Order: sequence, then structure tokens, then C-alpha cells
Amino acid sequence: PDKAVAAMATSRPATLADLNALIRRSPPLVPGATQAVLGEGPEGAAIAFVGEQPGDQEDIQGRPFVGPAGQLLTRAMAEAGIDRDAAYMTNAVKHFKFTPQGKRRIHQSPTAGEVKHYRWWLMEELRFVRPRLVVALGATAALTLTGRSVSVLRERGPAGFGDWNGFVTVHPSYLLRLPDGDGARDAYDAFLADLRRVRDLAE
Ligand code: URA
Repeated sequence: PDKAVAAMATSRPATLADLNALIRRSPPLVPGATQAVLGEGPEGAAIAFVGEQPGDQEDIQGRPFVGPAGQLLTRAMAEAGIDRDAAYMTNAVKHFKFTPQGKRRIHQSPTAGEVKHYRWWLMEELRFVRPRLVVALGATAALTLTGRSVSVLRERGPAGFGDWNGFVTVHPSYLLRLPDGDGARDAYDAFLADLRRVRDLAE
């Protein structure tokens, strides 16, 4: 474990701001990221959305869910009647991992070991935010929150995440990867239906 993690084993951060300062100072497990992308949103948010890791745009801007997948999620939330500004938006892994391909940076999924390394930060964030419902967007978030590998398409819906009421759904980048057509429209509608349930469950 790095020094920041070792320091926390003896003294846990007293506030979300202290925790965020520690995350910001902690180096990426795999070098390359521009910065740590911290969670965003109010403490006391009714719903916490947990993604996988920041993407290219998030890494540059230093904010979660601002790239193409984030924009799709933000639109779907609005359509489902969930105010993004009132929700807490974060990721299982706080640094972008990629392989360079010409000028592009191609997203690399985190390994199980990386997910484990970052899990502590997420659990501490939730301790401060205390949401009524934690939404796992995709398999990496679901793995982090349940400790087991989850088939999100088969297990989508309400779930227990330890101390937290949870909900499993797909990651918005999955919707972006589907070829245009009925299948993609159905998948988006199913995602919207999940978000409407999330809204109702968190009321
Ligand atoms: N995908 C994620 O999982 N998180 C982000 O912040 C952006 C894209």
C-alpha cells in the first residue's frame, strides 16, 4: 500500500474534503493519468451513482461523467426525472488507465487487483455521503460493491451492497457500443426503466 493508504489505516479522514485531499495526493496505480477524478455531488445525496473509472475527457477535465458515456447518462437521468446536481457521481477507480494509439488514448478496463486497491476510497466516500440508494453502473462497480463478479444483464435491479441498499444496471458505455437499431433503442429504454425505478426507490 502507498503512504497515503498507510496513513489512513491509523487515522481515517474526518471529512469528505480530507478524504478527497488524500485521493488527490495518491499516485495512480498505473502511471499515465493526468489527475485523480473525485466524486462530485452533495453529502446527503439520496442516490450515489458509481461508474467504472474516468475516461479520456474526465481525465482531462477532472470531473466524472462528462465524456460521451457521461453525457448519455446525464440525459437519461434527466429523462427519468433524476436531478444530476442533487445526486452523487463517482467511480470505482479514480484514475484513467489507457493504452496510447496514435493521438488517441484507448480505455483499458481495470484489473480485479486495481478494483481492490481503489475500493477503500469508495467505501469511505459512501460513509460521508450516506445515500439512500447506491447504483452500480456496470460490472466493475458491481464487483467493487458486492465483492463478486456480477452479470449485470442477468442481475439488473435491486441488490444488497453490504450496508447499502443497492441497484445494479448497465454502464452507459455499453449502450454507446451497441450498433444503431431496434436493439440499441430497446437497451436504452430498459436503462431508462431502471433509472425510473432508482428514482422511486430513493424517494
Ligand atoms: N465512465 C465511467 O465509468 N465513469 C466516468 O466518469 C466516465 C465514464
